[in-house]
Amino acid sequence: MNAALSMPAKAYVRRRKQLMTMAGDDAIVIVPSANEHIRSRDTHYPFRQDSDLSYLTGFPEPESVLVLVPGRRHGETLLFCRERDREREAWDGPRYGPEGAVEAFGLDDAYPIADLDDILPGLLEGRSRVYYHFGRDAEFDLKLIGWLNRVRAMVRQGAQPPHEFLELGHLLDELRLFKDRDEVRFMQRAADISVLAHEAAMRAARPGVREYELQAEIECVFRRHDAEPAYGSIVGAGSNACVLHYRANSAASQDGDLVLVDAGAEYRGYAADITRTFPVNGRFSAPQRALHDLVGAAQAAALAQARPGVAYEAGHLAAVETLTEGLLQLGLLKGKLEKNLAEGHYKRFYRHKTGHWLGMDVHDVGEYRLDGESRLLEPGMVFTIEPGLYVSPDDSSVDPKWRGIGIRTEDDVLITKDGHQVLTDRLARSADEIEALMGR
Ligand code: GLY
Ligand code: MN
Ligand code: MN
Repeated sequence: MNAALSMPAKAYVRRRKQLMTMAGDDAIVIVPSANEHIRSRDTHYPFRQDSDLSYLTGFPEPESVLVLVPGRRHGETLLFCRERDREREAWDGPRYGPEGAVEAFGLDDAYPIADLDDILPGLLEGRSRVYYHFGRDAEFDLKLIGWLNRVRAMVRQGAQPPHEFLELGHLLDELRLFKDRDEVRFMQRAADISVLAHEAAMRAARPGVREYELQAEIECVFRRHDAEPAYGSIVGAGSNACVLHYRANSAASQDGDLVLVDAGAEYRGYAADITRTFPVNGRFSAPQRALHDLVGAAQAAALAQARPGVAYEAGHLAAVETLTEGLLQLGLLKGKLEKNLAEGHYKRFYRHKTGHWLGMDVHDVGEYRLDGESRLLEPGMVFTIEPGLYVSPDDSSVDPKWRGIGIRTEDDVLITKDGHQVLTDRLARSADEIEALMGR
């Protein structure tokens, strides 16, 4: 893998400028960091920065708040953060401190987080609109209301409190939905690392292997490449593959099982999301191959809809139609295609949607529908295509040969000017490609 990637400082400047232009000169934008969460006593869960704050600054520390004040003469981009503290830094590692943060993150000004209470009311005063994620952090919501009330209490002295309160996501999610060239490089790296990880799992598979052993192979590759899981890795052998959010990863596989692996790396804040389903012994049985081929056909049908100007929803509809046709041919569904589609009978075997936006968050931000209609695809959007089929082990309405088979195939797709690019294309996908990679 190539050298570490870094996000150029001008990418953050550009994003903040875009957001401020969208918000307008009489607005203020407030973006708090993620909170640290205690696991027990003085031990914390691993800290992950809020994606919005990362997107706008790259600032990695908790207890910080970005405030954008478009057009403000004494500085538009302000950060509140922890002060340097020799004692604390000896325990937790270095902090930037306000001075260091201004320098390192190209901000106009920075202040100690302890001064937020004193300074924020003055920044709110005279601004008519507040953009903020209401309801995400109840404690911060209350603080904001307190600061607003302080401005309101000064009305008779001539203060002008804000009077419009708007959901920050309405602006920022739209920006984040369209990945710029730098972001695509990070997403490609996350995808490349994830491809290597899935290959490692396929190569390590053998009858009897435990699900967590395969998880270890995958996450070892992530860490070796400076990445970590973008979400809890799912490794389900046999009928565990039918549990959509299977988390235990504790069972032993048996000869003849398929294993479903849904795992993706997060590299410097950007996620990949890949699923492959492969036979632990390296050879698909005929029924396993038939369903795997059908899922592959559904994925290809969805992918054929991935180009600018096509409705996002078209991919799901194409996948569902292909799956229904195939299930009828294989005898898992009965009756006419139209009636099956109209009544959604495929949902017995396929209960999730065919994908989601992908970016800093695995289920990334962005509207799927605009004015009640599926939105149209545009260059820069990245999403997953992940059809699957899951036949419950106790589904007595189908031939026993199908029971307990769970399959999903998931890839990450970037919409380009004239079509698409599959970021995860290098990973074996068809049954033949998987068998060849497993070499047995
Ligand atoms: N890994 C979660 C998903 O595929 O949506
Ligand atoms: Mn997904
Ligand atoms: Mn997934």
